[in-house]
Amino acid sequence: TRRAVLAGSGALAIGGGLAAVLGAGGRTPVGASTTAGRRVLKTGTTSAPLVGEASQIPVWGYNGSVPGPALRLGQGEAFEVLLENALEEKTTIHWHGVRVPNAMDGVPHLTQPPVEPGERFRYAFTPEDAGTFWYHPHQRSFEQVGRGLYGPLIIEEADPPQVDRDLVWMLDDWRLNDQGQISGGFGSRHDAMMAGRIGNTITINGKPAAPLIARPNERIRLRLVNAANARIFGLDFGELDPMVVALDGQPVEPHRLSAPLLLGPAMRADLIVDFDYPAGTRHSLRDVFYDGLEYELTTFECQGKEVRERRLSDPAPLPPNPLAEPELATAERHRIIFGGGMMGMMGRTASGSDARNEQRTGSGMMMGRMGGSGMMSGGMMGWTVNGVSASGHVHDPIISAVRGTTLLLDMTNETAWWHPIHLHGHSFRVLSRNGQPTRYQEWQDTVLMAPEERVEIAFVADNPGDWMFHCHILEHQAAGMMATIRVN
Ligand code: C2O
Ligand code: CU
Repeated sequence: TRRAVLAGSGALAIGGGLAAVLGAGGRTPVGASTTAGRRVLKTGTTSAPLVGEASQIPVWGYNGSVPGPALRLGQGEAFEVLLENALEEKTTIHWHGVRVPNAMDGVPHLTQPPVEPGERFRYAFTPEDAGTFWYHPHQRSFEQVGRGLYGPLIIEEADPPQVDRDLVWMLDDWRLNDQGQISGGFGSRHDAMMAGRIGNTITINGKPAAPLIARPNERIRLRLVNAANARIFGLDFGELDPMVVALDGQPVEPHRLSAPLLLGPAMRADLIVDFDYPAGTRHSLRDVFYDGLEYELTTFECQGKEVRERRLSDPAPLPPNPLAEPELATAERHRIIFGGGMMGMMGRTASGSDARNEQRTGSGMMMGRMGGSGMMSGGMMGWTVNGVSASGHVHDPIISAVRGTTLLLDMTNETAWWHPIHLHGHSFRVLSRNGQPTRYQEWQDTVLMAPEERVEIAFVADNPGDWMFHCHILEHQAAGMMATIRVN
């Protein structure tokens, strides 16, 4: 079908005989012959024009590119990918936000053995939800994702809304050194205990941002994915005033933004952008998240002859996905406390604003005040979930739920830092923030928590297995901010 292609890569429909060859979750060594028509994602070293077409900077990618190929398929359509690992280290693929069977979730040691160099792993599942998702490794993700291993996974509605173009923007940032190469030090203690690895070079789809040029009255569906390890985007669209129609892949009541769109690591938003402006108009898209470091991310420009006489009328809501509605009256309530990090150790109230500023600016200001890295290595503990700083991917579950139970997680961020908290295998409704009901009761798989914020989420624990629950600032995750929720 039209959908069963890797958009943008010139490849490949799914080979029918693959299941018979490998069996679900099976592994065979790389090098065995592959038939044409198989969907393959091959990790390896490659290069990407991160700072312009003339620059080819060594990165890691899928099928030789960053981002990896955009996988597009239809809702309810069976999906198979053969992962071939040509890295010199183990890897896996996690299908972020997709409600997959546990064995397909790509968490090393927890749901599968990591895929050794030179080996393969076959992923197969049938996505229930349409929406904007993405894929990335879950093995040493702070370095593997940080070096470029990620790609978009677009699951199309049976009857998608009418748009003139459907675009995906994978936002990322990179830390380049004076030689213009990716600097080392992935997972450093300093990054881990503070804001995570914030980069100094922003890319959209692996390249410097280029203006988005549209014709008057053109309608674009713009799918934003934050693939950065740690950077939070606060996107100010100014007068362009797009309509938000989905968050984290899940439909939301269409609405215009009343504040910058906050997109923490791993989060997505689907926007409908109507270019109802005369040719020659130019709008700026600014990222205003970090105080004092606001910048123009890119521009939207209207050019040429109008696509239609008048703009289309406001978009209808996207069809809902088949998510079970949480039953709040009978929900099982759990308190979750996120703790630790740089200021946590010192008492967060006195110095919280310093930490916020550090996270917002990455200035190293606190490091100076606290006497540099001796302090870091001497006294640092990790990040915690309910008092435990996890190591590795296998832990005693913090919650063990009977399948079908509604879980209400009452979560408090007792740290001085922002954390995008992600649950595998489920989407949840965001019920309240600091005691105030949210306006849209939006479904998310990753919820951004401000310092000292309290957020309630709820979901039906209906997908059996052991599921990761962690901060998606990948350095925070590696330094212990993760846990497991079991659904029996
Ligand atoms: Cu996007 Cu546990 O991951
Ligand atoms: Cu975090």
